[in-house]
Amino acid sequence: MFNIDSLLRKNIRDLKPYSSARDEFKGEASVFLDANENSLGSPLMKWYNRYPDPLQIKVKEKISFIKKVPTAQIFLGNGSDEPIDLLYRCFCDPGKDEAIIFPPTYGMYEVSANINNVKLVSVPLLSNFQLDLEALESAITPFTKIIWICSPNNPTGNAIDRQDIEMILNNFDGIVVIDEAYVNFSRQKSFVTDLQDYPNLVVLQTLSKAWGLAGIRMGIAFASEAIISCLNKVKPPYNISEPVQELALKALDEIGQVNDMIQQIVSARISLESALLKSSHVLKVYPSDANFLLVVFDNASAMYNHLLKKGIVVRDRSNVLLCENGLRITVGTESENVKLLDAIQSFA
Ligand SMILES: Cc1ncc(COP(=O)(O)O)c(C=O)c1O
Repeated sequence: MFNIDSLLRKNIRDLKPYSSARDEFKGEASVFLDANENSLGSPLMKWYNRYPDPLQIKVKEKISFIKKVPTAQIFLGNGSDEPIDLLYRCFCDPGKDEAIIFPPTYGMYEVSANINNVKLVSVPLLSNFQLDLEALESAITPFTKIIWICSPNNPTGNAIDRQDIEMILNNFDGIVVIDEAYVNFSRQKSFVTDLQDYPNLVVLQTLSKAWGLAGIRMGIAFASEAIISCLNKVKPPYNISEPVQELALKALDEIGQVNDMIQQIVSARISLESALLKSSHVLKVYPSDANFLLVVFDNASAMYNHLLKKGIVVRDRSNVLLCENGLRITVGTESENVKLLDAIQSFA
């Protein structure tokens, strides 16, 4: 049985969190002399002299409306990388607890585990890029606290089978994180609608991909209220700046435009895939549920260097498990995709 108290690190369970001036104030006021801000404001931008809302309620209300998830089940971070780190800090005792990843996958689960001195156990994906549930079963120990599932997966681009994820959610009593950074480009349904069924589920999404806002740094974690309270307890008090909250509020009103953009990117991905397959240097393009393609070349490092010389940077994944001779290519604008295809064609 999932029991958050027994899962939490003892020091976090006992932690008295920082209480900011704005946390303690409730009600109406017009004179704010409680937070040692500069009451005159900056000559550059007077209106940024106040600390931002520590819990970003207005932004969460918009996300809540779009995703149909209560605000108390939403956490906002400085990119998804912040909740990734906070989940380790909340649930994994350094030097003792363990987490599981399914490589090849997004690199930050491992980097964050190393930063937090948490043992990471790898259960490689099968050759069809799906989960090896048998190997997973033998990898789980009494110290396993978090399982990271990236779906659609980076760098392979595929969605992970829903039944396999459900099997893990139903049988593992620790935290199951589903990183859905690319879910908007996928035919796969988000697990956000399944939060009521799984108290151990954390769904990560981000404004960096479909929303087109990687530069503002806003990641979202959806989970039970109990898990979200733990993340809030541990996060830096003002982790999302005021300009970022303002930009996110504006962006979240533009869901229609975002949906159009998603369609545009998905259809560009389909065209790019068929154009790539016409090149004699391309051996395979893996099916993608994301905004990138994993492409197998006859000689990936030679192609990578050739593209670099033409001023085109792609991600060399050729040394990554199961991705031999693979380059991960983001779907670009129409003209970027044309430049890419021309450059590939010019490869001797
Ligand atoms: C699977 C996955 N999760 C998370 C991220 C990072 O997201 P963010 O920009 O919100 O930190 C990436 C970035 O490439 C990613 O591929």
